[in-house]
Amino acid sequence: MVFTLIAAGKDTISSTLSWLLWLVATHPDVERKILEEIERVTTMAGRQEIFMIDKDEMNRLVYLHAIICETLRLYPPAPFELRCAIEDDMLPSGHLIHKGTRILFSIYSVGRMEEIWGKDCMEFKPERWISEQGSLIHIPSYKFNEGNIIHVPSQKFMTFLTGPRTCLGKAMSFMLLKFMVSSILWNYKFEMVEGHVVKPTPSMVLSMKDGLKMRVSKRKV
Ligand code: HEM
Repeated sequence: MVFTLIAAGKDTISSTLSWLLWLVATHPDVERKILEEIERVTTMAGRQEIFMIDKDEMNRLVYLHAIICETLRLYPPAPFELRCAIEDDMLPSGHLIHKGTRILFSIYSVGRMEEIWGKDCMEFKPERWISEQGSLIHIPSYKFNEGNIIHVPSQKFMTFLTGPRTCLGKAMSFMLLKFMVSSILWNYKFEMVEGHVVKPTPSMVLSMKDGLKMRVSKRKV
């Protein structure tokens, strides 16, 4: 369990960080909004050195939380999962599964399904996680319809999986990412190297096929 805790948290967090920095660098409007939020909810305005937000400030970084969720929806670090039936079973969809059947399912695709996320499912839009009142919208990893019958298309945010073997490090991941991203973005500006194309490669951990080439410069605060 200790090994899993260490191993499961290393590549997943670095994958998320890479995709997030790329998405923010290619969406200047999102970058502007997150810098405004950091300045508004933390005491960092005017400071140039690396800083550490405290727990209260972390909870008030709503837009940053939404950016992390949106990054994880479009680029889940574990893009697919494999399960094997230990006995005959029936899926909520009505499909019969025989003992020993292996099922491979794509978390990457669930994050891009129009029937779940709407027509703008392919767009990077952190706002979809924020209500009109400005609070975070909780999107469950699965949903019980009336009568407790699970309806498959209503499954939602599956990046951390769902059920009894769900990720144990979910809360810690948000904490780590908020600490790192707020500090990095406040201090440094990331710009894409012209001509460099970023695309995913199918692997256990979702990585970038040709890496991420960016210019990093110190922000003038
Ligand atoms: C963005 C970051 C992360 C994502 C997307 C993620 C996703 C996942 C997924 C999909 C699983 C299920 C794997 C499977 O059953 O095949 C899992 C399991 C697990 N994760 Fe994470 N994870 C993240 C970060 C972390 C961190 C930081 C930790 C630890 C500090 C952690 C600890 C674990 C553990 C212990 C399990 C095994 C749970 C079990 O089998 O009962 N994860 N994670």
